[in-house]
Amino acid sequence: MSKNEKVSNSVIRRLPRYYRFLGEIMSEGISKISSRELAERMKVTASQIRQDLNCFGGFGQQGYGYNVAELREEIGAILGVNGDHPAVLIGAGNLGRALAVHLDYAKYGCRLCGVFDSSEQLSGMKLGALTVMPMSGLTSFCEKCRPVIAILCIPKEAASEVCEKLAALGVKAFWNFSHYDISLDNIPDVVIENVHLGDSLMALCYRINQSEKKEEEKQ
Ligand code: NAI
Repeated sequence: MSKNEKVSNSVIRRLPRYYRFLGEIMSEGISKISSRELAERMKVTASQIRQDLNCFGGFGQQGYGYNVAELREEIGAILGVNGDHPAVLIGAGNLGRALAVHLDYAKYGCRLCGVFDSSEQLSGMKLGALTVMPMSGLTSFCEKCRPVIAILCIPKEAASEVCEKLAALGVKAFWNFSHYDISLDNIPDVVIENVHLGDSLMALCYRINQSEKKEEEKQ
């Protein structure tokens, strides 16, 4: 686990999938797996798996394969799933409410501790154990709870201002659903994940088109 200084973004993006698959394999009572077997399940090549895991110093033993529980734990540690990052969610509309209520934050090393919205109508609304708070309370909340992550579920037009305010209040990571591609180049050490579910849907549509084309060519 010492070679991880220059791990590429694409490797990092594959780690959650390894983590998820290894969890499923563990729940089937399997304790040991070869890279070939893992590759078959994950529909990737064994060499990709070996290469990816080698970025972190490699985990398997030649001829033995991987210890499933150990590998999952190591990947979990790399991803930080055992952390307890406090998070604040801004925008308690349709998407925000769904993310506030239905996501098991602890599973990913996070803890949702506050939800804010600019709408007076939403203020006071119960969302699981949390209550939607007005934006006027954001500064004092951040000073007290020190959220590291902000989840942005607000309209595009509001994103830039809210984001800068949160960064000034010490937020270090943005999980941004607002369709505004945030770039806080002037603020060092801030990390941003711009999420566009539509991108994934478009990739799916592309694959439908490709398979339809193949079918047509066969006829
Ligand atoms: P919504 O209209 O139901 O909720 C938006 C909420 O943001 C409202 O409650 C509103 O009062 C609040 N808001 C607006 N300006 C604010 C501000 N300056 N500070 C705090 N709160 C503010 O919209 P919905 O459906 O929940 O979507 C939220 C955003 O996420 C939209 O911009 C939508 O386009 C986007 N979206 C993004 C997806 C993605 O994959 N990235 C998927 C679905 C929606």
